[in-house]
Amino acid sequence: MDLRAHQQRQLLRKEVRNRRQQLSNDEQQQASLDLCATLISQPKIQAAKTISLYLANDGEISLEPFIDWCWQNNKAVYLPVIHPFSPGNLLFLHYSQATHLIANKYNILEPKLAVTDVLPLAQLDVLIAPLVAFDRQGNRLGMGGGFYDRTLSSWHKGKIQQSLLPIGVAHNCQLLDSIPNQHWDIPLPEIITPSKQYHW
Ligand SMILES: Nc1ncnc2c1ncn2[C@@H]1O[C@H](COP(=O)(O)OP(=O)(O)OP(=O)(O)O)[C@@H](O)[C@H]1O
Ligand SMILES: [Mg+2]
Repeated sequence: MDLRAHQQRQLLRKEVRNRRQQLSNDEQQQASLDLCATLISQPKIQAAKTISLYLANDGEISLEPFIDWCWQNNKAVYLPVIHPFSPGNLLFLHYSQATHLIANKYNILEPKLAVTDVLPLAQLDVLIAPLVAFDRQGNRLGMGGGFYDRTLSSWHKGKIQQSLLPIGVAHNCQLLDSIPNQHWDIPLPEIITPSKQYHW
């Protein structure tokens, strides 16, 4: 692959990850409350029965207030788990208050793998995706594993039900003028920050 493009993407990741790591606890908390209030107000989220999301790490915006709302409103919540045999792919496992979490190889907490807790992607109504940076066209730069690009490729190609709504979420400071996209990158149809909602 193009080495310069790769290096450019790595530099952008580093810059934006630094920015969000430098947010104060108060800024993090306020951002999370604002973002979660917007999420809760979305008709498609209110109508959803199954929602996958993530546990914040590395300065990512926290979804904790939203997770509590989901549990109180009978939404089934799922977390991504690294696939044990299919490299670079994710599984979505049920997440309840009783779920025991274990750190994966990236030190991200995930539910213990149990086949009965796995939900096929096609049965998710909403997939909330973390990201490192985004632009005003809906382009997304992640942590560099390609996990969400692989996950969303079947959705993007129309191979699974189109009622799945992927929503990217981020701090305001993660917006860049442009993202140097690669052909495998899947743009998001919707991105929500604490102060703005982008829709394509
Ligand atoms: N659909 C796909 N099939 C095969 N390989 C893929 C696919 N999507 C991405 N990849 C590979 O994954 C690697 C990382 O991709 P990329 O740099 O876009 O990660 P990212 O979008 O930042 O990460 P993530 O999606 O995990 O947040 C690339 O080398 C790319 O070749
Ligand atoms: Mg990508």
